[in-house]
Amino acid sequence: MEKVLITGASGFVGSRLACAMSSSYELLIPSHREFDITSLQAICQYIEHHRPHAIVHLAALSNTGYCEEHPDESYLVNVTGVENLARAAAQYGCKLIFFSSDQVYNGNLEMGLLDETIPVAPENHYGRHKLLAEERALELCPECVALRATWMYDAPHAGMHTHRNFVVNVKEAILQGTPLRFATREYRGITWVGEVVRHVPHTLLLPGGVYNFGAENHLNTYETALAYLRILQCPDRSLAVADEERFSAHVRNISISTQKIVEASHGAIQFLDTVEGLRHFESCANSLLS
Ligand SMILES: NC(=O)c1ccc[n+]([C@@H]2O[C@H](COP(=O)([O-])OP(=O)(O)OC[C@H]3O[C@@H](n4cnc5c(N)ncnc54)[C@H](OP(=O)(O)O)[C@@H]3O)[C@@H](O)[C@H]2O)c1
Repeated sequence: MEKVLITGASGFVGSRLACAMSSSYELLIPSHREFDITSLQAICQYIEHHRPHAIVHLAALSNTGYCEEHPDESYLVNVTGVENLARAAAQYGCKLIFFSSDQVYNGNLEMGLLDETIPVAPENHYGRHKLLAEERALELCPECVALRATWMYDAPHAGMHTHRNFVVNVKEAILQGTPLRFATREYRGITWVGEVVRHVPHTLLLPGGVYNFGAENHLNTYETALAYLRILQCPDRSLAVADEERFSAHVRNISISTQKIVEASHGAIQFLDTVEGLRHFESCANSLLS
């Protein structure tokens, strides 16, 4: 069995990934305390001792608002932490997969689905730090794979950390009868984390580079919310309110194209688009209930 080290395994993605990979891989899932990514020495000691074949690096400061208010901490974890892992991966010959973000596109003005070749200039610390991490990691370890993930969702699961996310927000609005505002000037993919973790093992075979990783979406966020209310057969469409003021400076388009990863994985990695993904997520949830 291949030995895979997962960092951030107590987090939203990591807890689900560890569960999904546990039957096919020998997993190493150290806690934050056991494996602090900001310490190169601690990382190297651990890797030298355990000798994983691959590392899936999910440990991060993932909250964009927190990173904006704490840029030094964000830099330390989201840039230096990745650099440390890239150095260790190069030194010990492990494949490194790490999660970047579609937020690297948040300063772009182009419309349509964005691919990995487009020049980017992120507008917030989180996006800038993810971009720097990609660049530094690929310099230090050219075989490493950086995945530009979209916003992810899931239902809360016992024993697994769950952030606030799109489906939880919409379902809460329905249950409480409280309308929620969704931006008409924002375009982004939104992906079920279940699909993400299913595809991660295939990323171990990708050539080094940067890849968009998640659902495509041609709709704006308000239209996406309306589509989800239809999937949920919620008769009250007024629960989604069109917010036309947000992102007034420029339309925020961080919608990704996934053509590169589909081709590089020879079709093994293919995501449903955002609305199809939401439909699939609901049908899986319903089949579990019935
Ligand atoms: N969630 C999304 O929608 C989303 C979207 C795009 C990209 N991403 C990226 O995907 C990755 C996973 O995100 P997530 O939502 O699963 O994050 P998360 O739930 O916030 O989990 C972060 C994990 O990192 C650990 N951690 C933080 N600082 C650490 C350090 N210095 N050393 C070791 N471990 C540390 C945390 O452990 P403790 O809790 O014990 O501190 C936790 O296990 C991140 O790179 C994130 O930026 C996420």
